[in-house]
Amino acid sequence: MGLTKDFFIALSKNQVLNSGAKKWGLKLGASKVVAGTDIDSMLKSVKELNADGISATIDNLGEFVYSREEALEAKKNILATLEAIQQHGVSAHMSVKLTQIGLDVDPGFCLENMREIAEAAARYAIFINIDMEDYSHLQPTLDILHTLVKEFDNVGTVIQAYLYRSEKDLELLKTVRLRLVKGAYKEISEVSYQSAQDIDSNYLKLIKIRLQQPGFTSIATHDHVIIDEVKRFVKEHNIPLDRFEFQMLYGFRTELQKQLAQEGYTFTVYVPFGEDWYGYYMRRLAERPQNINLALKSFVSK
Ligand code: FDA
Repeated sequence: MGLTKDFFIALSKNQVLNSGAKKWGLKLGASKVVAGTDIDSMLKSVKELNADGISATIDNLGEFVYSREEALEAKKNILATLEAIQQHGVSAHMSVKLTQIGLDVDPGFCLENMREIAEAAARYAIFINIDMEDYSHLQPTLDILHTLVKEFDNVGTVIQAYLYRSEKDLELLKTVRLRLVKGAYKEISEVSYQSAQDIDSNYLKLIKIRLQQPGFTSIATHDHVIIDEVKRFVKEHNIPLDRFEFQMLYGFRTELQKQLAQEGYTFTVYVPFGEDWYGYYMRRLAERPQNINLALKSFVSK
């Protein structure tokens, strides 16, 4: 299991495969979890979700950006996606990774790009979530976020329960809209819990602290044990349903997604789209090796 996870995390970081995959179109079963490579197919998926009472957070996929040109191109695509959300009146916000818009090129340049995105989104009253990447990007991401929240109220980020420091970060972000997740990257034991049990118990601890803070909370998990405990906790503490939402990834546990929305919980699905699908897909395979069946089936049916 550990080996499989390491294997797919390593594949997700392979830049030759990452750039090769852009030319392939969606392959290896990725179309089950990626909503197409262009804005039109993404919008079609979002409209279907909206029809079921589910909102979307849209990720215009992109990683391994090491030049200004690529970062500016990514920013242009994100701005075009914001326009499309506005024009089509769909219920959706956006998720952005800072490495996509130049964090590895120059943090100051990245901040400027993010400001432009936040400004455009604010004009349309659209929220922007800054996704959290691996540990080496955590502090630079939080530095940019802390600057942005002084200027905008439509920007938030993600807290990863596998990190020891997350409880302290939560305290510094009480009023900011946050998504809470277990954490998707492979981190060392000096900074992060390693066992599923420790991660789950820290996750529940952080969720319970957070649900009593003023900021809006997105609980992003496919784990029904966690979801059931959250439902029990909010009932017990009379936490209003408009203080939080559940989130899952596109294509995962779709029946449970609909069921939770029907039960009256606010529900948002993370909808990734674009040509740069490979790294995202490999991380999903690393998390849930059962998904390899998707990849294998699509090979066999070719
Ligand atoms: P986990 O994978 O631990 O599964 C727990 C249990 O849930 C399983 O044992 C099984 O019983 C059940 N289960 C899980 N998936 C199932 C399925 N497909 N079908 C049936 N049962 C299933 N990470 C990060 O580092 N930065 C980020 O910005 C984000 N953003 C983000 C947004 C959204 C909307 C989601 C849902 C997730 C993220 N993540 C993330 C990823 C997150 O950190 C984590 O890696 C994955 O969600 C996997 O952990 P889970 O909590 O879903 O359960």
